[in-house]
Amino acid sequence: MSGPSTYVPKSALGRWFESRLPVMGLVHSSFIAYPTPRNLNYFWTFGAILSFMLGAQIVTGIVLAMHYTPHTAFAFASVEHIMRDVNWGWFLRYAHANGASMFFVAVYIHMFRGLYYGSYKAPREVLWILGVIIFLLMMATAFMGYVLPWGQMSFWGAKVITSLFSAIPFVGDSITTLLWGGFTVDNPTLNRFFSLHYLLPFMIAGVVVLHVWALHVVGQNNPAGVEIKNVQRDAVPFTPYATIKDSFAVVVFTIVFCWFIFYVPNYLGHSDNYIEANPLVTPSHIVPEWYFLPFYAILRAIPSKLGGVLAMFGSIAILAFLPWLDTSKVRSGAFRPVFKVLFWVFVVVCCGLGYLGAMPAEGGYVIASRILTLLYFLFFLSLPFIGWFETTKPVPATIADAVLAKSGGSVALAGAAHEKP
Ligand code: HEM
Repeated sequence: MSGPSTYVPKSALGRWFESRLPVMGLVHSSFIAYPTPRNLNYFWTFGAILSFMLGAQIVTGIVLAMHYTPHTAFAFASVEHIMRDVNWGWFLRYAHANGASMFFVAVYIHMFRGLYYGSYKAPREVLWILGVIIFLLMMATAFMGYVLPWGQMSFWGAKVITSLFSAIPFVGDSITTLLWGGFTVDNPTLNRFFSLHYLLPFMIAGVVVLHVWALHVVGQNNPAGVEIKNVQRDAVPFTPYATIKDSFAVVVFTIVFCWFIFYVPNYLGHSDNYIEANPLVTPSHIVPEWYFLPFYAILRAIPSKLGGVLAMFGSIAILAFLPWLDTSKVRSGAFRPVFKVLFWVFVVVCCGLGYLGAMPAEGGYVIASRILTLLYFLFFLSLPFIGWFETTKPVPATIADAVLAKSGGSVALAGAAHEKP
């Protein structure tokens, strides 16, 4: 889609440099001339929002690390030192902690957008799978970051989740010992989590480069789910159209983000994490951060420990098979009446699991978790059959047709005079 660049720099120095390292041509073909479907809605701005949030997390994290001490005797106090003594330290910490939550808000919207509009279907399978890898890396990063303040939830969350690995037959105990760096969660655990928490965001950045590369090879999907056929009629250049729209969305998202930082900085956190870690006192409810709750509910829904671990990891792994599970020839959910209903049921199921993950694992909550876990997997397993039996609505032949069907007007050619269809 981006294709080889035809960009020629204006200055002689620019041409000299470009003939040796064509980086300006790459930027030009990828972010300026790149043909963008003209019918993208605001759900397509979340990739830019995610890129912004990744940058924000890396910058705030690097500065926090300058003041943080990864040792069990000092970690909790060093975080309090950041909050009270370091200039703007409270802001850095709240921005980083709430930033993690906002990052997950954005990634869930981004993923559900992909699911609804069938963005995982050919030829975007690799792009989608790279996204699933990013999601796994994000979860690992967030989990290890939460351990660093060394509060009660940090410690007990780490204990519960790392202990899960011991359920794996034969090698489970060795894996758990390796994760802990000893025989329980202690200083070596904190050290290795700090080291990995610093490393993983850069790995995420690397996979994001592949993700965007794959995107630029196949081009963006769009709400109509049909490919660009005529660049003049179906697409607009990335700059200024997408750059301005993305920038506007980033600003709006940042306002919401700032509202959390400045008005309710602890709303998404757990009050127990303001108590220093104590291996001798178990909190009455051990709950992970909100973005892990649906998976936590799946884990606890299964009576056996190994079964729970398999179901939890399976609930993420199944995403990678989506391109082959969905057999429908029609890509966008907008033209798939049955899929559309199932999609919204699936959204409700995920929210329900999130709610149940925060509740105690007893009585009716466990039964409800089991039912919703079953529905979660049924959604994916029903996709091949729906693809075969569903009667879809007529799909517009081109993106321009989809725009016209909505507006009833004419399609303005990018950079050219208006043309009657
Ligand atoms: C750090 C996290 C991520 C970043 C920075 C990122 C970045 C982007 C960007 C910039 C785009 C193009 C703009 C857009 O469509 O919004 C995009 C598209 C896409 N992303 Fe991501 N992404 C991330 C995570 C994910 C995850 C977790 C998944 C799925 C599991 C995913 C799946 C997709 C798909 C399928 C597209 C193509 C959408 C389309 O053209 O319809 N991404 N991503």
